[in-house]
Amino acid sequence: MALINSDINQAASFLKKGEIISIPTETVYGLAGNALNAEVVVKIFEIKNRPSFDPLIVHTHHLDQIRDFVTGIPEQALVLAQAFWPGPLTLLLPRKPVIPDIVTSGLDTVAVRIPHHPLTLALLAQLPFPLAAPSANPFGYISPTRASHVNDQLGEKIPFILDGGPCHIGVESTIIGFPDAVPTVFRLGGKSVEEIEEKIGKVQVMPQSSSQPNAPGMLKSHYAPGKKVILGQLPELLARYRDQEVGLLSFQNFYQEVPAAHQIQLSPQGNLHEASQRLFSALRALDQLPVKIILAEPVPDQGLGRAINDRLKRASA
Ligand code: TXA
Ligand code: MG
Repeated sequence: MALINSDINQAASFLKKGEIISIPTETVYGLAGNALNAEVVVKIFEIKNRPSFDPLIVHTHHLDQIRDFVTGIPEQALVLAQAFWPGPLTLLLPRKPVIPDIVTSGLDTVAVRIPHHPLTLALLAQLPFPLAAPSANPFGYISPTRASHVNDQLGEKIPFILDGGPCHIGVESTIIGFPDAVPTVFRLGGKSVEEIEEKIGKVQVMPQSSSQPNAPGMLKSHYAPGKKVILGQLPELLARYRDQEVGLLSFQNFYQEVPAAHQIQLSPQGNLHEASQRLFSALRALDQLPVKIILAEPVPDQGLGRAINDRLKRASA
């Protein structure tokens, strides 16, 4: 079992020894190691059971540090960095050779972000290297938003989990790159398209894709629980699956037809921020019920709701 506490000195000492630990961020928990050491980064892929063609995000605490790893920052990227870092936004920037190939899966861009979590920012500030960190879940499963989620699945494989409490945003960062100088969202996430467009104007949003080697973050069956998830309008789905025991994930409403213990409302008040915070915990809880299927409905498709709907679609793919 992993040691779990909030001691950043202990976290730093594991990382300096080349160990992999879990760190909290505002989006989800990460599985972190020294991004500049290829042998360390290999261990991250092994622990997650992640294919090596799926590149990692490099986390730092300061824009100045990022300049050591990238050959340039486009003007629009700089505007976003200054507006939204620390925060749930990842930028794809042209990389310098100091970033090992394994981190970027050989791509010529590196994904970088400054996460918004006080413990992890303090940790990063005392480390002499940045941290490569994917979400701390086995490949293909739901991302963890609490230390206990990490411990449940990876506690046997890592020595330490830095406990930063429940994640404030609850869905992964928005990933934006600049292919041919066109700002392009590769993954919807914690920073909404509306907020981004307010700063830099219209952006292109990549459609979800089942396999796309240069944007593996778009893999369709990501974020899936073990149970079958069916997405649609709940009244219709409830009628159709009336003969089966189901788990239910609704945005606001309670459904009389289903036992209270088998249903979760993401936000009874209809608040998308609260819904995103609770989404992955709710999917995990429903996945543990003695039911075969989980019925879920989309939330309003705006702001954070677009990222929530994206994760629900992938969970049901
Ligand atoms: O919120 C987050 O971003 C969390 C926390 C821990 O920071 N991290 C996270 O990492 O979600 P991960 O590895 O689960 O997802 C990162 C995604 C991957 O799907 C990967 O394909 C994509 O980022 N990615 C990384 N580098 C890329 C690159 N150079 N070009 C295109 N996609 C890239
Ligand atoms: Mg992930």
